[in-house]
Parts: sequence; structure tokens; C-alpha cells
Amino acid sequence: MRVSTGLKKLDKMLSGGFPENAVMLLSGGPGTGKTLVGMKFILDGAKKKEKCCYITLNESKEELIKACESVESLLEVKKYLGENLAIEHIPMAQSNVSMKRFIDIIASYPKIDRIVIDNVNKLLMFSENNKSYRAYLVELLDSLKKLGSSLLLCETDNDEKLDSSGHESFECDGVIQLIFLELEEKPMRSLIVHKMRYTNFDAKLPHELVINNKDIRLTETRII
Ligand SMILES: Nc1ncnc2c1ncn2[C@@H]1O[C@H](COP(=O)(O)OP(=O)(O)O)[C@@H](O)[C@H]1O
Ligand SMILES: [Mg+2]
Repeated sequence: MRVSTGLKKLDKMLSGGFPENAVMLLSGGPGTGKTLVGMKFILDGAKKKEKCCYITLNESKEELIKACESVESLLEVKKYLGENLAIEHIPMAQSNVSMKRFIDIIASYPKIDRIVIDNVNKLLMFSENNKSYRAYLVELLDSLKKLGSSLLLCETDNDEKLDSSGHESFECDGVIQLIFLELEEKPMRSLIVHKMRYTNFDAKLPHELVINNKDIRLTETRII
């Protein structure tokens, strides 16, 4: 079984979608589209009557709903709120939640089909050091796999290379990067699949990601 990603073209590239009960990492710089792609993934599950939860460590629920209102295809998010779709805002700093406590919260959740965490590297600020962050990350991934399929959003610099110093890429089952590529001097949003366990795919070929007031989609344009 595969889990559809919310992006048709990405499903095609990944032989139907993400592997089931796996943890995917979606990394990229600010404004590359992580939050909106995360919402597409969550909405796709909600439409299929799956239980879905979008956990936000940054923006408030209201801010996220507002972001969805700027894209027509995401307006439907509101329809599922309070039904099979929840947006949980966990303001770590204000509520004094450590990374360990965050994992306990996740582990206490009932079965959920799809989870998004926006963004996971924020948890680094709430663990003692880099080493304990990695250990906790492994623990978090274990808990997530017991719940369902997850997409972890990870904020990086708007730099061409994937930040491989991040532990997240090593621990996750799949790694997708969003990046602005300079094409004929015009920056173009693009998506690159770096890693996808249990899947046959074309690694490292960038595809154009379009965001407009209608939709978010991957085009057939392969950037070479
Ligand atoms: N209706 C729209 N038309 C065109 N671009 C949009 C629209 N809505 C949002 N965007 C673009 O999407 C970007 C935000 O994407 P977002 O998912 O929040 O990025 P990230 O989470 O990676 O920081 C904005 O910077 C904006 O440029
Ligand atoms: Mg975001």
C-alpha cells in the first residue's frame, strides 16, 4: 500500500505515493512551500476520511487557516476541521514543553492516519544538545510509525545543497527538498526527491513546483 501525497505528479514519481507508516522529511528554506505542501498532504487524507493531524510549533491555527485561504484548493481544509482533521498548535516556549515532553504528547495520541509536524527542527531548541536531539528524534520517529504516516517539515537555509549536517535526513525513510533554483535568472520553485526507502524513483531530478491562487502542483517540467 502507498499513501498518496496530495500532489498527483509526485505520486506518479513515487510509484503511487509514500510508503505506508513511514516518516518523510520535507526540507527547504523559508517560502519554498513546505507548509502549503504539508497542508495538501493532510487535506488529501481528510478527503479520504482518514484521521489527520497538523501539528504546528510555529504559526497559530488561525495563521495556518489564513494561509490556506490564499489557495483555492486548500479552502476545503476548513470543511474537515473539527471532524477528521485537527490543527494542533503547541507553542513550545510559552507552554514550557521540552522535546521529551513533546514525544510523550505524541505517544499518547490515539491512532492517526496522517501527521504533519511544522517544523521538526524547532525541537532542537528544546533539547539539551545536538546529541540528545538525535536520540530523541529516533524516539519520536518510533512513536510516529506506530501512529500512521508522517511528514516532518524541516527548515533549512535557502541553499542549493541539502543540509546534510541535519540528523533528520539520516533517520527518516524519505527525504524531499524544496528549493528555489535559478533558471535563466528567474528563480523557480522546485522539488527534489533525495531518498525514498522501499521505492523505485529517479533520484535528484528537480521538478517545477507551482504555487498560485488556484492550487499547488508539480508540473511535468523537469529542470536539467
Ligand atoms: N495564492 C498564492 N499565489 C502565489 N504564491 C503564493 C500564494 N499563496 C502563497 N504563495 C507563496 O507561497 C509561499 C509560502 O509558502 P509556505 O508553504 O508558507 O512556505 P514555507 O512553509 O516553506 O516557509 C509564500 O512565500 C508565497 O510566495
Ligand atoms: Mg512554513
